[in-house]
Amino acid sequence: MPSYTGTKLIHLDTVTSTNDYAKALVQNQNVPEGTVVLADQQTQGKGQRGASWVAEKGKNLTFSMVYYPSFIQAQHQFLLNKVVTLGIVYGLKNILPNHGLSIKWPNDVYYEHYKLGGILLENTLEGNYLSSSIIGIGLNVNQTDFNQLPKATSFKLVTNHTHQLKDLLQIIGGEIEDKYFKLKSSLDTQALKDEYEQHLFLKDQWRTLKDGKHNPFKGKIKGVDELGHLMVELAGDGTIQRFGFKEIQFD
Ligand code: BTN
Repeated sequence: MPSYTGTKLIHLDTVTSTNDYAKALVQNQNVPEGTVVLADQQTQGKGQRGASWVAEKGKNLTFSMVYYPSFIQAQHQFLLNKVVTLGIVYGLKNILPNHGLSIKWPNDVYYEHYKLGGILLENTLEGNYLSSSIIGIGLNVNQTDFNQLPKATSFKLVTNHTHQLKDLLQIIGGEIEDKYFKLKSSLDTQALKDEYEQHLFLKDQWRTLKDGKHNPFKGKIKGVDELGHLMVELAGDGTIQRFGFKEIQFD
């Protein structure tokens, strides 16, 4: 199994977005799989759903990794979201109290009811398969002030001490790599689904959720289907409804 993490590291002081920088590298030259672009600061960091990702300079992990997952079918690209979110959670289990960690579907890493970080995958396709993926990861590490973001937390807020960013990068990168090569060699998608669901935030709990139009309803998160939709049991008739990325909200 190759060991990528840290061997092809591009460390920048300031960049617009590590995802954009990595994307340009992939377009312009033949960058090896596993290349990591790390930045102390992003001036136009990108979050999910067109949001921006803001982080204090030098205090957090903001990086992107280049992968070429050509064994993954386009319709199954959520497999990669599972690999990456699980890799982060497994890495963090060595550092933070295990019980509080979970994955908030689809892409967030949570500690208890607060967001520690998130991922932004930008995939390119060739025919029915993926050809490249820019795996962007933002984790709140040593920042303690999240004035504008009441749902955010950080490693430092959870543990009360400062963490070495590069050590964390090694640990998380290593775990993601591990999960990626396990999937590539076994194509065991069931194991990945089971693990992802074991770590799913609010799974099997009756909650008030909101649909895409902000209308509340009672439901229980049951799991995720192979296309990455969230499966929710509805109170009342007990049917299972599937939701896409923008069709449901909860915290
Ligand atoms: C989210 O939770 O909304 C996803 C956040 C992803 C942020 C990371 S930071 C490194 C990489 N470069 C970006 O511009 N975005 C991702």
